[in-house]
Amino acid sequence: MKYPKEYLDEIKTRLKVSSVVSKVVALKKRGKEFVGLSPFKNEKTPSFTVNDEKEFYHCFATSEHGNIFDFVMKTQNLRFGEAVKYLANIAGMQPYLFTKQDEEREKKWKEYISIYSKYVDFYHHELLKNEQHSDAREYLKNRSLSKNEVKKFKIGFIEKNPSFFEKLKQEFSEKILLESGLFYFDEKKNMCVERFRGRLIFPINNISGQTIALGGRIIENLDYLAKYINSPETTFFKKGSNLYNLDLARKLSNKLDHIFLVEGYMDVVGLSKNGIENVVANLGTSLTDKQILTLSQFFDDIIICFDGDESGYKAALRAAENSIKELRPEKQISFLFLPNKEDPDSFVNKNGKDYFLDFTKKNKILIHQFIFSHYKKQTDNDPSSMAIFEKKLRFIANSIKDNYIKKYVLEYFLEKIAELTPHLNLNQKKFFIKKVKSLETTKKHFNDSQSLTGVELKEFSLLYLIMNNLNLFQSNIYLIEDIKLFTEINKKILEAIISKLKSRKKLSVKDLDLDQQLLDKINKFAPIKYILNNKSKNNHQIFEFLEDIKRDLVNYDLEFRIQELESKFSKDMSETTFNELKALKKEKNIN
Ligand code: UTP
Ligand code: MN
Repeated sequence: MKYPKEYLDEIKTRLKVSSVVSKVVALKKRGKEFVGLSPFKNEKTPSFTVNDEKEFYHCFATSEHGNIFDFVMKTQNLRFGEAVKYLANIAGMQPYLFTKQDEEREKKWKEYISIYSKYVDFYHHELLKNEQHSDAREYLKNRSLSKNEVKKFKIGFIEKNPSFFEKLKQEFSEKILLESGLFYFDEKKNMCVERFRGRLIFPINNISGQTIALGGRIIENLDYLAKYINSPETTFFKKGSNLYNLDLARKLSNKLDHIFLVEGYMDVVGLSKNGIENVVANLGTSLTDKQILTLSQFFDDIIICFDGDESGYKAALRAAENSIKELRPEKQISFLFLPNKEDPDSFVNKNGKDYFLDFTKKNKILIHQFIFSHYKKQTDNDPSSMAIFEKKLRFIANSIKDNYIKKYVLEYFLEKIAELTPHLNLNQKKFFIKKVKSLETTKKHFNDSQSLTGVELKEFSLLYLIMNNLNLFQSNIYLIEDIKLFTEINKKILEAIISKLKSRKKLSVKDLDLDQQLLDKINKFAPIKYILNNKSKNNHQIFEFLEDIKRDLVNYDLEFRIQELESKFSKDMSETTFNELKALKKEKNIN
C-alpha cells in the first residue's frame, strides 16, 4: 500500500536526519554536516556523514546512503511500512489510516499492472516466435527494424482473431479487463474484443518501467483504420502525463544533458536504432506543462523535434507557446526543424547519427527566438499589424512563470522589435556620422578576394595605409600602438612594423624585412589602395582613414564579443551576462 507523498514529507519535515541517526550513532558537527562512526561497518575513524539540508546520510566506507526511512529500515531491520509507523510516532503524528478506497485502488493498480505485463509479454513472445506472423516480420524488415529494437522496446504483434482475452478471464474479472482499455465490449457482436487486434503494439511505460498503456500501429495501409491508436485514458493512464520511452531515456541523464522530444513511436525507435537513445515521444497529443516539467527534472536542455511538415510546424508552435511558461533558469528548450517531408525516423535513417547530431547543433533554435521569428513572419510593416505583433509577444512573455526569465525574454522581444523600428529610437541613440565614405564600397572590386574575411581585408587596409606612410606614422606612433587585430599573421606584422618604427631610423618598406608573399597579398587585396592611389592625400586625410579603419575594427571586436555573450546568455540567462550584452550593444550603436 502506498503512503501519500504529503504524509511522508510531513514526517521528513518534522524529523531531521541527524536527530533520527543520533539515536544510534554518536554524531559530531563538522561544517554543514555531521560525522560519526559507520553503523554498517566496524571502524575506528568516522566515515559516516549526515546532511540535514539535503535530507540524507552517506557512509563512505560502505557507500550506503538514503533518507530517514532507509536508515531506520536498515538499522532496525524493518519493512518500509513499519519504518513509517515508527518515525510517525517519534514525529508525534497519528498513524496513517488507509481508507477503504485507498485499499481498493491499490488492489486495482496491482491487477492493472499484472494484466498489462502478461499481455505485453505474451504478444512480444508471439512476434518473436510465432512463424505465422510472417506479415508482421516482413513489415519490420521493410522498416529495417531488427530483433534488437523489437526486444529493447518489447514490441509485440496481435493477430486478427486473438483469443488471449479468454486466457486472462481465467485470472481476472471481466470488469477489470475492460477497465484496462485493452478490450472493449462490442454491442453488435455481443462480446469483448481486443482493441489492438491486427496491430503492432508499443508498450508505454511509467517512469519505473511498468507498462500502463499501449500504442498500436496497423501494418497494412487501410484507409478506414487509424494508422495508430492508443489505450484510452484509464484510472492509471493519463495521456498528458506520460511520455513514451521516458523510463529508458531518463537513465541517460547522468551522461547527457539534453533530450530529444519527438512526435511518434517510430521516431523514438528509429533514433534509438541509430544510437541516439535520449529521446521520448509525446503520444500524438499536444505537449502539456506536466510533460515539460517531468523532462526538465532530468534534463537541462529539451530539444523539440517534430515532423518537417505543416502539422509538425503547427504542433511545434503550440508546444513553444505552451512550454515557454515553464522555462526556468539553467534550463533550455529549443526547436529543431527538419527538411520538408522528413520526420526524425526517416531523417536519421537516411543520414546516420553523426549527421543528425551535427544538423541539430547547427540548426536548433531557442524557444524565444522561434516564437519571435514565427510572429515576425506573420507581420506586415503597418501600424496595426505591428501593434498586434508586439501585443502578442508581450502576452507570451507575460505567461512565463519565472520572473527572471520573464524579464529577459520580454527584453529580448522588445529589443528585436526596436531593431525593426529604428526611427522610433532615433532620439535615444547618438548617431555618429562617418566623415569618410565607407571603405566597404570598395570591396566589390575584389571578386578574387572572397576567401578573405571582412576583418582580414580591414587589417590589410590598415597595414597598407601604414606601410605607405611610414614616416608619418613613425612620428605619430601612438596612433597605431593600441590597435587590436584578429588575424595572427597580421598581428605579427603590425608588431614588427611598430618595433622597427621605434628604432628612430628613417625607414622604407624594404627595411621592414617582411615576407614577400605576404606583402604581395596585402598590396593586391587591401581595399584602401584604390582610394589612396586615386589622388595624393594630405596628412589630415591619412589620419581620417586611420580613424575610420580603427572604428571598424573596434566594431568587429564588439560584434565578436556580442556573439559570444549572446550564446552564453542563451545558456545561462543570467542578469550579469544580459547587462554586459546590453552595454556592448549600446557601445556598438554609438560607434
Ligand atoms: P505520424 O503519422 O507522424 O507517425 O504520427 P510516424 O511516427 O511517422 O509513423 P510511421 O513512421 O508512419 O509508422 C506521429 C504520432 O501521432 C500519433 C501517434 O502517436 C504517432 O506516433 N498518431 C498518428 C495517432 O495517434 N493516430 C494516428 O492515426 C496517427
Ligand atoms: Mn514516420
